Amino acid sequence: MTELDDPVGGSLRGAHAALARTVGRVATYPADVATFCAVPADPTDQDWADLARLVGPGGLADLFTAPGTPPADWAPEFAMPGRQLVAPDPTGDVDPRVVELGRADDAAMLELATRTRPGPFFTRTAQLGTFLGIRDGGELVAMAGQRLRPGGWVEISAVCTDRRARGQGLAAVLVAAQVARTVADGGRPFLHVVDTNAGARALYARLGFTERRRVVFRGFRVPA
Ligand SMILES: CC(C)(COP(=O)(O)OP(=O)(O)OC[C@H]1O[C@@H](n2cnc3c(N)ncnc32)[C@H](O)[C@@H]1OP(=O)(O)O)[C@@H](O)C(=O)NCCC(=O)NCCS
Repeated sequence: MTELDDPVGGSLRGAHAALARTVGRVATYPADVATFCAVPADPTDQDWADLARLVGPGGLADLFTAPGTPPADWAPEFAMPGRQLVAPDPTGDVDPRVVELGRADDAAMLELATRTRPGPFFTRTAQLGTFLGIRDGGELVAMAGQRLRPGGWVEISAVCTDRRARGQGLAAVLVAAQVARTVADGGRPFLHVVDTNAGARALYARLGFTERRRVVFRGFRVPA
């Protein structure tokens, strides 16, 4: 499971290589896709200099869960304890309300993510993988997507339900559908959640996800 120790690096070197912006041993996504940066486990001064070049003066170095310590003059922007969870085997049939979303749904996905804030979401984030949703009267009210792809693993992400549709089991249905879809396509599903998100943690526990490791999501501001 070591691919899960560096999910951003594994994705940018593998399934998402075509999207990678790389300098030396560090890499990141285009800004309209994701802010996550891949940094080696043993970063050198040269790696930090390359990352500063990649994100630019005053830019955000979003290390995701990478453990290295940046230079002292990089200001900590956030540090959020969280967990990496691995999915159970799929069970049951997929709920018939679940539909696959496409490019025609890009605006609706961005709006739903902006309203519900499941995590960082930009104009092209949904291009990282398959997104599944549930509509009510033609309006997208809940979705669950795929994001990082280290090795054969597929991260379930952007799980969110419009406030008016919560507590009806829609997120549970969509996460279960993503697990089934990912496994059917030959992938192994996992996800990340911040410790402060009690609702999401309870949901994933109820669905049978198990903790693989604790992580800290960290971001630093590169000096201007
Ligand atoms: C978390 C979220 C996706 C749940 O959506 P939902 O469609 O209401 O979820 P479901 O109805 O499938 O499941 C709700 C279950 O989750 C748990 N849960 C949900 N909100 C909770 C809360 N605030 N506190 C504790 N448990 C909660 C409960 O176990 C609940 O079970 P119930 O069926 O007995 O009510 C939704 O609250 C949301 O969009 N939050 C903002 C975005 C977000 O944080 N996404 C997760 C990122 S990892």
